[in-house]
Amino acid sequence: MTTTGANPADVLVVFGITGDLARVMTFRSLYRLEARGLLQCPIVGVAADDWTVDRLVQRARASIEGTGEQLDPQVFDRFAARLSYVSGDFADAATYGRVGDAIKGAESPVFYLEIPPSLFATVVKGLADASLTASARIVVEKPFGHDLASAHALAEELHQYVDESQLFRIDHYLGKMGIEEILYLRFANSILEPVWNRDHVRCVQITMAESFGVDDRGHFYDPVGALRDVVVNHLMQVVAAAAMEAPARGDVRTIKESQLALFRAVAEADPAHYVRGQYEGYLGIDGVAADSATETYAALRLEIENWRWSGVPFFIRTGKRLAATQTELRLVFKHPPRLGFWPEAQRPRADQLVVRLDPSTGIRIALDARRADRTGAAPIDLDMEFATEGGEGPTPYEVLLLAAMQGRSTRFARQDGIEETWRVMQPLLDSPPPVHLYTPGTWGPQAADALTAGEGGWQDPWVAS
Ligand code: BG6
Repeated sequence: MTTTGANPADVLVVFGITGDLARVMTFRSLYRLEARGLLQCPIVGVAADDWTVDRLVQRARASIEGTGEQLDPQVFDRFAARLSYVSGDFADAATYGRVGDAIKGAESPVFYLEIPPSLFATVVKGLADASLTASARIVVEKPFGHDLASAHALAEELHQYVDESQLFRIDHYLGKMGIEEILYLRFANSILEPVWNRDHVRCVQITMAESFGVDDRGHFYDPVGALRDVVVNHLMQVVAAAAMEAPARGDVRTIKESQLALFRAVAEADPAHYVRGQYEGYLGIDGVAADSATETYAALRLEIENWRWSGVPFFIRTGKRLAATQTELRLVFKHPPRLGFWPEAQRPRADQLVVRLDPSTGIRIALDARRADRTGAAPIDLDMEFATEGGEGPTPYEVLLLAAMQGRSTRFARQDGIEETWRVMQPLLDSPPPVHLYTPGTWGPQAADALTAGEGGWQDPWVAS
């Protein structure tokens, strides 16, 4: 998509660099940008821990190696030479004085806040009071509130110190290769666009299945649950890419307006079409309340009230400890009629189009055909896997950190869109149905089958081989 004419970052300041996200994601992503020659500026880490820069470099090395990345010593040395460290309490004005000294002369600093959202305003205020925000970009991590009111309040707080255009909100699904592909696939192909609507599509199914559990994240996850963790943000981004109209231009505003128009057309979700599940064993996890009713599985039906989609249900399901790890978008097309010239009584199956988003990307078109090697008609799958066509793409955090440093905000979530997605989900938060237990390794609670029963049921995901 287009560039904004923004100045590239002349320093990246990472608040919370000693934390978990840095360990599992940030160091590796920055190192990989270094390896590709895309890292251009110094990096200043800020955290409360009393560390030296040597300790930070050691942590960076261990973190990168810990992700399984093969370390190239020359690349690592170049990367390590960019690092410096400021230690300080985020509530102490003196910390921002030291940050100011560390970035002296910088004209386009990027402040990346990988810290709990409860500290966002403290840090942004500290930076603003130290006169460091005038031409800065501020990158923040989800969650953006825990409901509509708190999402709004959080933004109001931040807007006291910085303009919305300076805020880069990470939803890492926007950094995935698949989402741009969906938009491109839909609108670059004249055999697809004309059928991508209510005249031809019976339902849309979005599945984000994870075979792993909540594990050591109980303290974070239990007050949150699946709906807030991944549906209101990540999966609504998939809904937008699957359902929005083509942006007329590639600039940020036009793209965000197209997304927003789609979000606005989504009706408030109905708790009668919402099923929550919890996997057996969840209650034993450290940090989970003994009587927790938090959902580790969520399945729901959304309606989009516009000319393209009216009457086409969008089904979303996600869960931890399911039978596979697989995220996909699936269009199930309408059934063909019974074929008079074909002697068999059954109708051909409905065509389907699948965009596989994770853990690898691909496209499948599922058709029905008569095959010479079979006696009758049989399903055929036309599959394309991107990994076998073009190699491995960059990871979402490489894409997003680079975009933030370059000042390209198309891949970041805008506040009005965030508030719309909370509006859609708010009835489900207000009136949550009871949780159903499900056995780990299955596709979740059977109660969810009722949601799609009238539309041919849930389709088994196209699991990566
Ligand atoms: C995170 C959620 O935002 O996204 C996790 O907090 C979830 O619970 C993760 O597992 C999934 O992201 P990905 O890219 O690994 O599919």
